Amino acid sequence: MPFPDLLPFPPELQAPGTADAPFEPALPLSELPPGSMTRLSRGDLDLLLAHSADGLLATDDRCPHMSAPLSEGRLEGCTLHCPLHRGSFDVRDGEVLTFPTTGGLEADGTYRPTWTPAGSASKPPLKPDDPKARARAMTRVRRLRYYPLRVRDGVIEVAWPR
Ligand code: FES
Repeated sequence: MPFPDLLPFPPELQAPGTADAPFEPALPLSELPPGSMTRLSRGDLDLLLAHSADGLLATDDRCPHMSAPLSEGRLEGCTLHCPLHRGSFDVRDGEVLTFPTTGGLEADGTYRPTWTPAGSASKPPLKPDDPKARARAMTRVRRLRYYPLRVRDGVIEVAWPR
């Protein structure tokens, strides 16, 4: 396999606790071919290692919406599709590409309403004071956050937070 690029990410989206964390072996590079992704777990932290069209990255294996495992979704080029609620994210900058169907708040606080995918039957709307409707409206969909990684001697190493 040719040596892959490491995907650069916005510095402000680096995961907390990783600034001075040491790199530790995570996975042989040969086990993460282009277009693939996998979950790594340590304690209660689940990371997603992905080999996107623009390079390798490590992020939380939790959707920034409602924590679904992104490793059960799809990676297409540089787009990461969550297995729930149709949310999708650009792995190059962590931004939401498709807002989840349940609606909620963008990272900057902008409200997005619920929506129904084309071809699907729409559900009756919830009353605004329904706790479920209120929870949806207050759920913020933040951007992806990233864990530093590198490749040494054919092994992907990740900076796990301290
Ligand atoms: S949990 Fe991922 S879009 Fe809702």
